[in-house]
Amino acid sequence: MSTSAYRFPFFVIACLAASSVHAAVNFEKELLPVITKKCVDCHKAPAVVNGQKKEPKAGLRLDASWAILKGSENGPVLTPGAPDKSGIYESVILPKDDDGHMPSKGEDLTKEEIALLKKWIEEGAEFGGWIGSKEGMPAGAQLETTKPYKPRPHDLFYAALEKEVKPLSDAVLEAAKQAGAQVSPVKVESPLLRVDFLTGVSKCDDAKVAAILPLKENIVQLDLGRTVITDGALKTAAQLPRLVSLDLRQTKITDAGLESLVGLKKLESLNLYGTEITDAGLKHLAKIKSLKHVYLWQSKATKAGVKQLASAVPGINVSIE
Ligand code: HEC
Repeated sequence: MSTSAYRFPFFVIACLAASSVHAAVNFEKELLPVITKKCVDCHKAPAVVNGQKKEPKAGLRLDASWAILKGSENGPVLTPGAPDKSGIYESVILPKDDDGHMPSKGEDLTKEEIALLKKWIEEGAEFGGWIGSKEGMPAGAQLETTKPYKPRPHDLFYAALEKEVKPLSDAVLEAAKQAGAQVSPVKVESPLLRVDFLTGVSKCDDAKVAAILPLKENIVQLDLGRTVITDGALKTAAQLPRLVSLDLRQTKITDAGLESLVGLKKLESLNLYGTEITDAGLKHLAKIKSLKHVYLWQSKATKAGVKQLASAVPGINVSIE
């Protein structure tokens, strides 16, 4: 693969969307507890309660993978890869006063839980072998959902990095959060961290980014997209030895700033969408041999520059235009 992706704008957009988060959601561990707690009371196998038969609402059961795939009396509620075509996602983001808002009663999903659900659907909505209730299960339905949980390449990659670091203390994490950083493990119980400033991009400057340095051994994903950083923040990024994914989209960084990054040994994904980066900046990137994906959509780089980068870094995939 080299520069062929630039002919497919849709592919580019898909990559931009997927580039900031890598670890796959583990349905059974991360999402099932949420659904069980907040949805299943009204969406489960028919049961007799106080002498009365209680049917699942809208004929929809959320207590089994095959049932979720089957959908409601009105049709499917899940389209793998497309949250906006999936009733189970659409219903939880509807305004609370909308009749279709879910859960219709009880505790709403938190922002984090909604994000997790979205991510899981985007990643293909795999149940990883979880079946759930077998009551009423049609013969053969099980086959659909018993594919074992398959770690993505990135999970394996992270597994190696995980062995190198220790979890950080709450006090250290708290200090970074005070500076406005959102810090979260890349997956449940991982000491590896994802950091972003999405709750305050317009206040995130080079000094705020410098406040994450105490976490430097553990950070694998850093999202500085749309923040007001300058090249100074790249000097901070350069000190993160395990940085795998760096998002700099729509920032004021320059070609010269990219030179700071040449020492990063694990960097695989770099998002430069909507920046002023030109072919001069790509010359620095040519020295980062670990790079696999570079996003240059709406930057000032040219196809000729991309070609040079592709020949310098074997296997790199560059999206431009
Ligand atoms: C307190 C009961 C209750 C809870 C809890 C609840 N639902 Fe519902 N759900 C309903 C009712 C009632 C309907 C039917 C609404 C209608 O027909 O207007 C429904 C309908 C739906 C539908 C539409 C099905 C269709 O195709 O018509 C979806 C999707 C759905 N629920 C998902 C969820 C999810 C996801 C959760 C958990 C976040 C949840 N529900 C929690 C009561 C509930």
